[in-house]
Amino acid sequence: MPESSGLLQTAIQAATEAGGFLKAHVGKVKNVRIKEGEGRNLVSEVDQNSERMIIDMILSRYPDHSILAEEGGTGGASSEYRWIIDPLDGTTNFLHGIPAFCVTIGIEHKGRMMAGVVYDPNLDELFVAERGKGATLNGAPLRVSRTATLSESLLVTGFPYDIADNPDHAIERFIGFLKASRGVRRLGSAALDLCWVAAGRFDGFWEVNLHPWDTAGGIVVVEEAGGTVTDFLGNRGDIMHKQILASNGLLHTRMIDILAGITSASR
Ligand code: IPD
Ligand code: CA
Ligand code: CA
Repeated sequence: MPESSGLLQTAIQAATEAGGFLKAHVGKVKNVRIKEGEGRNLVSEVDQNSERMIIDMILSRYPDHSILAEEGGTGGASSEYRWIIDPLDGTTNFLHGIPAFCVTIGIEHKGRMMAGVVYDPNLDELFVAERGKGATLNGAPLRVSRTATLSESLLVTGFPYDIADNPDHAIERFIGFLKASRGVRRLGSAALDLCWVAAGRFDGFWEVNLHPWDTAGGIVVVEEAGGTVTDFLGNRGDIMHKQILASNGLLHTRMIDILAGITSASR
């Protein structure tokens, strides 16, 4: 069995090197295309090359480990270890020159997320979490906020690429939280949204229709920083869930109430 510190060091090295590669390529992208069947979902050669770099590094050390990566890269045959990778979270920002994007890597062992690494190359911020060992930002311990009232909270969300179809009442949910909170931001990177909840910058985050690679790394970071991650009904956070609600814990029930109120009002 590989040492967990070796796995984590590999994730950190892969995320920071790929993050540097992304930063160096802002404004230099040659080929952008729309993913098939997904009108707003863009992908470039930079997403693909970043993914290749990360996977090559992982497989050079752990050739039999499985890989689940957004751009389709594959790995070995291991069913025990799986690396879940978004080589560029925040592609739309990246392509518009907005410095809010990152690399996110989660490590799963026997179906359980055991570690998460998220690297923001623009702010040079490295978020690291290992199950049961806490979360850090550039080596300093991370803790969620202590905000206990929704009216004093600053929230963040994201919109799925098919937002025009208003999936899962996404637009009504946005309006509901806008009215109930101090404000709602939309950063454009779900992994950073989660890490910023972990860092106490935001008090809560929700979104629908994310993929495992968007959330795998960040969920561990939030939980290890003392936060709570569930679906909209309060079931424990799972990378396969189509709904994600992450908060400092203190606001969680109140946020579930708002989400439930919107679903029942729209029936
Ligand atoms: C997207 C970002 C965004 C979220 C989208 C994701 P991508 O990932 O995380 O914040 O709202 O739903 O798909 O496409 O930039 O890797
Ligand atoms: Ca993503
Ligand atoms: Ca991506």
